[in-house]
Amino acid sequence: MVFTFEESLQQRFACKAFTDKEIQKDDLDFILEAGRLAPSSCGFEPWKFVVLSKKEDNEALSKLCFNQENVATASHNIIILARTDLQAKDEYARKQVARFCSPNVDKDKFQQVLNSYTGATNAMNEEQLYAYANNQCHLALMQMATAAMVKGIDSCMIGGFEKAKVDEYLRLNYPFQTAVILSLGYRKNEPKYKKQRLKIEEVVEYR
Ligand SMILES: Cc1cc2nc3c(=O)[nH]c(=O)nc-3n(C[C@H](O)[C@H](O)[C@H](O)COP(=O)(O)O)c2cc1C
Repeated sequence: MVFTFEESLQQRFACKAFTDKEIQKDDLDFILEAGRLAPSSCGFEPWKFVVLSKKEDNEALSKLCFNQENVATASHNIIILARTDLQAKDEYARKQVARFCSPNVDKDKFQQVLNSYTGATNAMNEEQLYAYANNQCHLALMQMATAAMVKGIDSCMIGGFEKAKVDEYLRLNYPFQTAVILSLGYRKNEPKYKKQRLKIEEVVEYR
């Protein structure tokens, strides 16, 4: 089943359990590409996508996610990592910013551009950098979930996990920390509830 973008918005729901059907590689690539193309503040792309697909890995991850069935039964879990090396001193940030400069830019001009891109992050501590990167990771998350539904693939965004344990399980080191998880597969059951949302006039205010 293939859905339009609009249908995907309507169809996607927080899927609580998946069937045994596996996601095909080209569909998975499509989903990951949607994540890669997500926008990010200053174009930092402060993320990495770790993909788990082995049954035993998904089950082990589920244990760190309060035994959520969707995580355990997923065809694939994408763990979105936030990266925090986003300051002027950091090689990664410098590399990202350099892409926005012409190749023969002089040192002073580069420093000027770098300072403007990292103005906010330079003043942040590690916790604030994580929160900043984590926000961007949720854009990739949303984009991947919508892309998945376009291909008829169900998902659940997972914020319910023991972060320190997931970081340890994935053997993460600076600059990476777990931001959020996307469980993917094919729905075992239809959604329990009709989509519940505020009315458009409750969320939109024209001025
Ligand atoms: C950041 C985030 C974290 C979430 N974490 C979980 C989770 O750990 N487990 C779960 O079953 N659903 C989780 N959800 C799904 C929400 O509960 C769900 O999207 C919301 O209730 C709206 O329902 P719908 O997505 O079916 O329309 C999460 C959603 C978001 C955006």
